[in-house]
Amino acid sequence: MPSLEYHLRELQAVLDPFDPVRAVPKYPCAGWKVLDVGCGIGQTLLAPELRAAAELHGIDTDGAAIEFGRRRAGSAHLTLTCAQAEHIPYEDGSFDLVYSRVAVPYTNVPLALAEMRRVLKTGGRFWATLQPVRGELSRLGTGLQRLAAKTVIDSGYVLANSLMLAMSGRCVPRPWNGKYDTVQTRRGAAWLLRRSGFRDVEIFLSPLHFIATATRS
Ligand SMILES: C[S@@+](CC[C@H](N)C(=O)[O-])C[C@H]1O[C@@H](n2cnc3c(N)ncnc32)[C@H](O)[C@@H]1O
Repeated sequence: MPSLEYHLRELQAVLDPFDPVRAVPKYPCAGWKVLDVGCGIGQTLLAPELRAAAELHGIDTDGAAIEFGRRRAGSAHLTLTCAQAEHIPYEDGSFDLVYSRVAVPYTNVPLALAEMRRVLKTGGRFWATLQPVRGELSRLGTGLQRLAAKTVIDSGYVLANSLMLAMSGRCVPRPWNGKYDTVQTRRGAAWLLRRSGFRDVEIFLSPLHFIATATRS
């Protein structure tokens, strides 16, 4: 689970328009209802690009981060809830934009995508950052060089799980802690999104991740 320091660092990046690794959804979202899945303390919801939205909601499984985000937001108009991406506590068709920054890879991806689609209005916009394979291959390489057995085993799980997801549309949690992790290829991500009922799928490269956008059909 990321630390509070991580979330606060990301908040600084969100608020700094010149940060080179900044990645936030950019839509003309005046009057929109927006949901951030895996929102941490709600850092991305505070991006200037989302200021015109009518309602800003976030969910995360980390209760401490949600609590901190609620206290920090004070009177700012954020609704933060402790909940899982796989069981989003909103009704069908609630949102104009559902996005997720650095969180979908840590979920049961097909279930999370199905839930994100369910809570979008027809024609609503989806935006997510995904993890490219190269980062995991480099982690595996470092683990092998250093003979770090735990890293090699964990990386082996991530790569095998990602292959299974790309080939069958299913993924499994780590047997030792029940947490999910996957990396994606651009082609695999596009396939998963179309399979989950999205159209107009586009995948863009960004410095650290790649970004998937789509429309709910
Ligand atoms: C790397 S952090 C990213 C936080 C924030 N979105 C950002 O971009 O800075 C990943 C977040 O996803 C949350 N998360 C992981 N699995 C989740 C799930 N199944 N449902 C909801 N949130 C989840 C974690 O608790 C964590 O806050």
